[in-house]
Amino acid sequence: MNAAIRAVVRAALHRGAEVIGFSHGWEGVINDESQLMESKTVGGIIDRGGTILRSARSAEFRTPEGRVKALGVLKKNEIDGLVVIGGDGSLTGALKLQEEFDFPVMGVPGSIDNDISGTDYSIGFDTAVNISVEAIDRVRDTAYSHERVFVIEVMGRRNGFIAIESGLAGGAEAILIPEVPYSLLDITNNLRHAAEKGKRSSIIIVAEGAARASDVKLFIEKNTGFDTRYLVLGHLQRGGSPTVFDRVLALRLGALATNRLLSGFKGEMAGVDGSKLVSHPLTYVLSTERAIDPEKLLLAEVMSS
Ligand code: F6P
Repeated sequence: MNAAIRAVVRAALHRGAEVIGFSHGWEGVINDESQLMESKTVGGIIDRGGTILRSARSAEFRTPEGRVKALGVLKKNEIDGLVVIGGDGSLTGALKLQEEFDFPVMGVPGSIDNDISGTDYSIGFDTAVNISVEAIDRVRDTAYSHERVFVIEVMGRRNGFIAIESGLAGGAEAILIPEVPYSLLDITNNLRHAAEKGKRSSIIIVAEGAARASDVKLFIEKNTGFDTRYLVLGHLQRGGSPTVFDRVLALRLGALATNRLLSGFKGEMAGVDGSKLVSHPLTYVLSTERAIDPEKLLLAEVMSS
């Protein structure tokens, strides 16, 4: 997110615009937590996780009264357009502001879940996946040496993008995601068959939206008797220095959204299609479900067989 903030500020200053940053998301707009953003404000932040502007959920912005308040604050600060960096909730708020008051907005997809349509990647996903894979690699050493089954739960909200990507890269024996029905009984049978053929350790990745790692651990232990442990990666996946991929993605998307806003476009979200920059209407982005690539699902199945 910091790289995206840096890109928005510097791209706008480059075009001669003045930039105001709001802390704490929509809550900060309602409460007028505004600050002038200069080039130096965003210096030395590209390698920092999180966001210097901080973040918050806002119940008030979900009400029509809250949005009227926010509009008043934007007008008071003489804001002509807003770049909103965030996930589903933040972008839905942006679209509402534009639809209700014709206030120009541009979205930048920021979510480790990678569940936003209109872009192949959202900011934070690559970093979260890399952290997960590093954890899987470390756990595998104990799994191998102590001949255990490990169940590792990753984030992803209602989707399995983090699970599939980190499960593939981490060489997981099974990956459970909410998008695909699974049978714990089949998984335990597979573990038993693999053990019969001499396999003494396994790693199972569970997306938080599919099951609780603790429940899966209990089921496996009860049905196989194998020594099983579980680990919930949780918020570890949301912090730390961003990967090169995420930094460059954030810079590109932040600059694109800003440049388009300054050129008179509005109601869109910047994204990437492969390596190409794109910008899609927020109405499309927010009404379309992002699906897991079937090729990756098949690959995961083949790799774990
Ligand atoms: O949407 C990002 C995400 O990290 C999800 O993967 C997770 O379910 C959720 O946020 C956690 O939210 P909180 O930090 O409020 O517990």
